Amino acid sequence: MLRLTNLTKSFGGNKAVQDANLQVAKPSMIGIIGRSGAGKSTLLRMVNRLTDATSGQIVFEGNDVTALVGAAKRNWQSQCAMIFQQFNLVPRMDVVSNVLHGTLNRRSTLATMFNMYPASDVHKAIDILDRLGIAEHAPKRAEALSGGQQQRVAIARALMQDPKIILADEPIASLDPMNAQVVMQSLRRIHEEDGRMVIANLHTLDTARRYCDRVVGMRDGKIVFDGTPEQLTTSMAREIYGADTSFSEAATSTEIQTLDREYA
Ligand SMILES: Nc1ncnc2c1ncn2[C@@H]1O[C@H](COP(=O)(O)OP(=O)(O)OP(=O)(O)O)[C@@H](O)[C@H]1O
Ligand SMILES: [Mg+2]
Repeated sequence: MLRLTNLTKSFGGNKAVQDANLQVAKPSMIGIIGRSGAGKSTLLRMVNRLTDATSGQIVFEGNDVTALVGAAKRNWQSQCAMIFQQFNLVPRMDVVSNVLHGTLNRRSTLATMFNMYPASDVHKAIDILDRLGIAEHAPKRAEALSGGQQQRVAIARALMQDPKIILADEPIASLDPMNAQVVMQSLRRIHEEDGRMVIANLHTLDTARRYCDRVVGMRDGKIVFDGTPEQLTTSMAREIYGADTSFSEAATSTEIQTLDREYA
């Protein structure tokens, strides 16, 4: 389905991502972990074409994504919706309009200027909000919602595009543990029920283990681990995070109670 080949991004002399290779054969839920600066965001941004790769290739369902320009590139960007740590909603706009923004790609400028949405789109937006458990907040301003609710609005906006892939860059980094759980469960459900691929940068190991089928570990711009949560041993985790033997998984935990599970 998705294949990254020797994907590289340089900023001056600094290689943010270096020769990343990844093959995803079926829609999976993938967690990317690694310490700050490892290249996680840069990798996702290249896949979405928010950033152009310096070299290497991205192929999705046989098409060379790296080569797309203009309308074809925009079409790709709506097929792989992006979700961010800071939600990126319009704070003073109501929830349903924020969600409808997800259809912007295929609407005329005129319709957008006058905030005209087809009734079918409005119904679809409410249905998606309902599915995410936040339909009752539809008329409220986005800024009136909690962080976890706002992130679900951002997920709803992404779903309006009916994307094949959802790319989430630290979707729960600004949330408390309860909200983090709800948001991760929402992403998991979207993956399982709709068969969409989800690739999420996560800064905590336990989240990647719990929700993802596959974990990719990055260090200094390189993919240094690619396997199942079971294959990710504590010593491997130490290597990904560049930590010594004092490293414990609890140190990267989002849990209220620290993890007592050990992967020897
Ligand atoms: N626009 C940019 N200009 C210059 N350097 C950049 C730019 N974006 C990222 N970098 C550098 O690329 C490297 C990887 O950054 P990236 O943001 O991808 O890491 P990350 O794994 O997402 O980190 P974090 O966990 O802190 O979000 C870092 O060294 C960073 O300083
Ligand atoms: Mg990042």
